[in-house]
Amino acid sequence: MTVIEALVAALGEGVVAFDAESRERQSRDLSTVPAARPLAVLRPRTTAEVATALGICHAHGQGVVPQGGRTGVSGGAVPRPADIVLCLDRLSGIEAIDTAAATMTVLAGTPLETVQGAARDAGFLCPLDLGARGTCAIGGNIATNAGGNRVVRYGMTRQMVLGLEVVLADGTVLDMLNTMIKNNAGPDLKQLFIGSEGSLGVITRAVLKLEPLPVSSATAFCGLAGLDAAIAFLGRARSGLSGLLSSFEIMWPGYYDLIIGTPAGSGATGVRPPLEGRHGMYILIEAQGGEPAADADRFERFLEACLEDGLIEDAAIAQSGEAARAFWGVRDAVIEFNALLGQRVEFDLGLPIGRIGTCTRAIEASLRQSWPDARIIWYGHLGDGNIHLQVAVPSVRPHPDHAIDEIVYDHLREHGGTITAEHGLGTLKAPWLAHCRTPAEITLMHGLKRTLDPMGILNPGKVLVDGAT
Ligand code: LAC
Ligand code: ZN
Repeated sequence: MTVIEALVAALGEGVVAFDAESRERQSRDLSTVPAARPLAVLRPRTTAEVATALGICHAHGQGVVPQGGRTGVSGGAVPRPADIVLCLDRLSGIEAIDTAAATMTVLAGTPLETVQGAARDAGFLCPLDLGARGTCAIGGNIATNAGGNRVVRYGMTRQMVLGLEVVLADGTVLDMLNTMIKNNAGPDLKQLFIGSEGSLGVITRAVLKLEPLPVSSATAFCGLAGLDAAIAFLGRARSGLSGLLSSFEIMWPGYYDLIIGTPAGSGATGVRPPLEGRHGMYILIEAQGGEPAADADRFERFLEACLEDGLIEDAAIAQSGEAARAFWGVRDAVIEFNALLGQRVEFDLGLPIGRIGTCTRAIEASLRQSWPDARIIWYGHLGDGNIHLQVAVPSVRPHPDHAIDEIVYDHLREHGGTITAEHGLGTLKAPWLAHCRTPAEITLMHGLKRTLDPMGILNPGKVLVDGAT
């Protein structure tokens, strides 16, 4: 019996699809990795069906690519033609909300926005938030340890996961649906599956920690002299807005000019400039809390003091929810990069905050030396030391992806950074792992992989690849 025959016999045709349309739909994610139609698409309805499917694939040595909402940008969910896709979309729904413990139990395929809405309806906040909220699935968020816009306040996805149910490669179901904040009974095994991008097990259920729902929100768009001022402003905000600070996003002038349009030209995005003048750096700052009048007053007084001290050059405070959304529109315009920049390489760098300046300047100088006409766009989540970079060299074809990677990652290694702060390794970053992890760490990662997935069936070709430099 072939693996497909065995899967159909055990699960039925309703769960195993191999028509062209299903295979085409599951052939890509949001990364630049070329799409590939998988051998078949599995859409299990229960954890037991996931276990049956993996048990059969394990016995046949069949590669399996788990998929959530396929909004990743590192290629972690793109199958190879010989792989089978395991789509979690039917495992969807909120199973329980415990208001006393402030926890939610949820199935892995539930869209993040549904999780956020259910938490809100129960009077809580699901602290994870990112641009793909309507499409991405909570299981994928956990598998990739997603970051997003509120990490400066609540931490990464890892910080909000209390428990998991995971199916191992051989079909063993691991019930780790812990609901307690404190639990020191041995190593915290669920952490192995958070951020390992489906390479060590398949997440089927999760217990999430919910937060108090903020009732006030204040947003400002600020212009500053440069990066040093932005870092000083961050320090001031951490203390001056302690307990309230919820986002601290940074945009370099090249980013702002691209999105807004230069004073001479017009913006291609239609996004309106939040500030009248131009500055050496831009910060989008947001504060959320529990006392609307007092919080708004504190936010305004904080910004006034920063203006008086010359820490910031200008600030526009959003006077309505609509205005706040317009400010976020400048930052969220990253979805226009395809139209604005065309072919390019995208980065998700993480650095100690104090080294961002020297590292970004060194990278930019080296890129300019190789390609004087390169388009180099910087922005990111300054509060978390997570800087994104887009590099496009329109004059060179084929586009010099590898040479760009090498320049960026060599500088990053010198500055003690990480090659991915929040997007994960997938296929695009996996070859560079040794630039930010030691040989001993990588050996241990391979050992874990062999222990948990001895046949190497889970997300093959992702995360850990041979010959990573
Ligand atoms: C962002 C995504 C790309 O920060 O991580 O815009
Ligand atoms: Zn980001």
